[in-house]
Amino acid sequence: MPTKVVIGAQWGDEGKGKIVDILAGMSDVVVRSQGGNNAGHTVEANGEQYKLRLTPSGIINKNTLCIIGNGVVVSPKVLLEEMDMLNSKGVSTENLRLDLRAHLIMPYHIVIDTLSEKAKGTGDIGTTKSGIGPCYMDKAERIGIRVCDLMNEEVFVKKVRENVKIKNAIIEKIYGGEGVDAEEIISDYLGYAKKLKKYAADTTAILYNEIKAGKKVLFEGAQGTLLDIDLGTYPYVTSSHPVSGGVCIGTGIGPTMIDECLGVVKAYTTRVGKGPFPTELFDKTGDEIREKGFEYGTVTKRPRRCGWFDAVIVKFAVRTSGLTSLSVNKIDTLSGIDKLKICVAYKKGDEIISEFPPSLEELALCEPVYEEFDGWNGDISGVKSYDELPENAKKYISRIEELCDCKVSMVGVGPNREQNLVR
Ligand code: GTP
Repeated sequence: MPTKVVIGAQWGDEGKGKIVDILAGMSDVVVRSQGGNNAGHTVEANGEQYKLRLTPSGIINKNTLCIIGNGVVVSPKVLLEEMDMLNSKGVSTENLRLDLRAHLIMPYHIVIDTLSEKAKGTGDIGTTKSGIGPCYMDKAERIGIRVCDLMNEEVFVKKVRENVKIKNAIIEKIYGGEGVDAEEIISDYLGYAKKLKKYAADTTAILYNEIKAGKKVLFEGAQGTLLDIDLGTYPYVTSSHPVSGGVCIGTGIGPTMIDECLGVVKAYTTRVGKGPFPTELFDKTGDEIREKGFEYGTVTKRPRRCGWFDAVIVKFAVRTSGLTSLSVNKIDTLSGIDKLKICVAYKKGDEIISEFPPSLEELALCEPVYEEFDGWNGDISGVKSYDELPENAKKYISRIEELCDCKVSMVGVGPNREQNLVR
C-alpha cells in the first residue's frame, strides 16, 4: 500500500465510506485533504455507527494517526461536537491532528451561503449551506482566517473584527439579511481555540516524516471527480479539488510521494442536484435502481438521479487522477435487470465524442452511445469471492475495465465491509 489515495470517480456518493473504512484499518495514518463538513462517511465498528463529517475514518483505531490537512475548511464547532460524540462512545481523539494552515468556517460564511443560494432562486447550486463555498472564497480573496490565526488571540480578534465589518455590509446591504456579532464570534471561537490547541500542528511536516518512515498512509477523498471545481461539471461543483492532485495541495506533499490512486465508482451512475447527465434514466429501470440502491440523499433524503454506467466519465476520472485501480460498488443493485447498458461514447449530431466535454451546453447536446449486456438474476449479496459472481456480472465488470482502461481491483456486493470482493 504505502501511500494510497481514494477518490470518487463519478459525482460523489460512490460508496467511498466502505472502502475507506476497509483500508483505514490497514493504515498507520489517515488524512483528509479537501472539503469540509459537507462530506463525510458513516463508519461501522464495534457494533456502533459513527457519522464522521470532518474526522478521518481511521479515528476508530486508537493507534492510527488522523490528520485534517491544510486543504480542509474546518468548522471548529462541528469538529468539537464530533470529537465529543466520539469520546462519549469511548473513542479517543488523542491521535487527531489539525493543520495550522487549514481555513476556518466562520458564522458569516454560513449566513452568506444561505442568503446567496436563496438569492439565486431557481439558479441555485444546491450547496449544503454549511459555509464551505464562502470559506474557500475568502481563502482565494486572501482574507480567510486560519487555524494558526485562531491560536494567536491578538491576530484572531483583529481579523474577525475586520472581516465582520465587510461581511455585515454584504449580508445587510446586498442580501437584506441580519449581520453577525463580531464579539460573540470572538468569544465562542476563543473557547474553541483552548480546546483545539493541543491538536493543532504543521501536519505537512508530520506527514512527510511518516511517509519517509515507510508508514502506510491513506488519503481519504470526499465527493467525486465531476464535482471538482476545475475539472467537474462547473458550476454544479464543490469549491475544492476531490481529484488525486488535490491531495498534494491539500496535505502539502509532492506527487512523487503517492504510490497508488484508487477510484471508487458505482456499477451505475447517480447525480444529486442539477446539470446535464447523459445516461440519466427517466423510466421504471431508473426507479428500480433508485429503490433497490436506496439512492436518496443521506441528509436531505432527496431522490438521487439514476442512470446507466457512463464509461466516458470514469475514463475521464482515470485520466485526470492517474487512477491505478477501480473499486466498483453496488453491482448487487443491478441484479434482476434483464438488459444492462454501458455508455461507451457520446453522439452530438453526427459527431462521436469520446472525451468528457468541458462545456455543460455541449454536454447537454450529447446523446449516449450504448453497449448492451445481458443481466443476471438472484441475490448476489452473499457472494464471497469474485469467481462466484454470475458470468454476466463478470463480463460486465471486465468491460468496465476495458472501456475505462483501468484495472478493477474490488467489487462491492453490499454495504458491509465483508461484502467487498477483492480481485
Ligand atoms: P460522499 O463522500 O459523500 O460522496 O459519499 P460516499 O462515497 O462515502 O458514499 P456513501 O458512504 O454515502 O455510500 C453510499 C451508500 O452505498 C451507503 O449507504 C453505503 O453503505 C452503500 N454501499 C456501499 N457499497 C455498496 C455496495 O456494494 N452495495 C450496496 N447495496 N450498497 C453499498
